[in-house]
Amino acid sequence: MKIGIIGTGRMGSGLGKLWAAKGHTIMFGARDLAKAQRVAATLGASAGTPAEAVAFGEVILLAVPWTAAQTALQALGSLAGKVLIDLTNAFGADGGPALLGQPTSGAEQIAGWAPGARVVKAFNGIYYEHLGRSQFQGQAEGLFYCGDDPAAKALVAQLGTDAGFDPVDCGPLTAARLVEPLGFLWMQLAFRQGHGPDTALKLLRR
Ligand SMILES: NC(=O)c1ccc[n+]([C@@H]2O[C@H](COP(=O)([O-])OP(=O)(O)OC[C@H]3O[C@@H](n4cnc5c(N)ncnc54)[C@H](OP(=O)(O)O)[C@@H]3O)[C@@H](O)[C@H]2O)c1
Repeated sequence: MKIGIIGTGRMGSGLGKLWAAKGHTIMFGARDLAKAQRVAATLGASAGTPAEAVAFGEVILLAVPWTAAQTALQALGSLAGKVLIDLTNAFGADGGPALLGQPTSGAEQIAGWAPGARVVKAFNGIYYEHLGRSQFQGQAEGLFYCGDDPAAKALVAQLGTDAGFDPVDCGPLTAARLVEPLGFLWMQLAFRQGHGPDTALKLLRR
């Protein structure tokens, strides 16, 4: 797949590395082109402006902070028809979920800021240190995702598998109201309840 990644931070570069290793073609788009070129060079990927990465990719990963998402999207031009993966966690001032209890989600707001994009919420619950380390006692960490476009979700599920995770379809994009707090639940368990970051959430099956 041709994937445009907006953001060269921990999640963008980490997922880009895993996908490049699986044979996907990656273009990083960043406001700092020199930084994007440095990151891309280590992965055999290419770099450009955010708009160039969007033009390149059939799948676009938005890997910027929630507070920067709307501004970053405005710099991208039209995303109509593109699969747009939203992995943002909308932190409030207290470090908890800013949108909890509201009749919306970050992903639904992003869909409103990116008209025509086929938005899939995914990877928000995956800690960056788990990228490349997704196995827990022989079991792959769960990847909870949702969206309204079945074909877009199938692509994202494949990218989740390629990154080493166990994808779980959680339903339509409105289910992001449930999927987004899962990431915060994991952070609560890992960093406030003493379970630590070598833990993960998964749907058990039998
Ligand atoms: N870290 C995690 O474990 C984790 C897990 C799941 C989800 N997430 C979510 O993933 C997203 C990225 O997190 P991260 O940990 O990868 O962050 P990060 O390492 O701080 O990287 C953030 C990236 O966003 C770019 N950026 C910031 N403001 C921007 C703007 N206004 N326009 C364009 N680009 C901008 C930064 O560019 P510069 O380099 O130019 O500053 C950087 O490349 C966040 O929404 C976070 O909530 C993170």
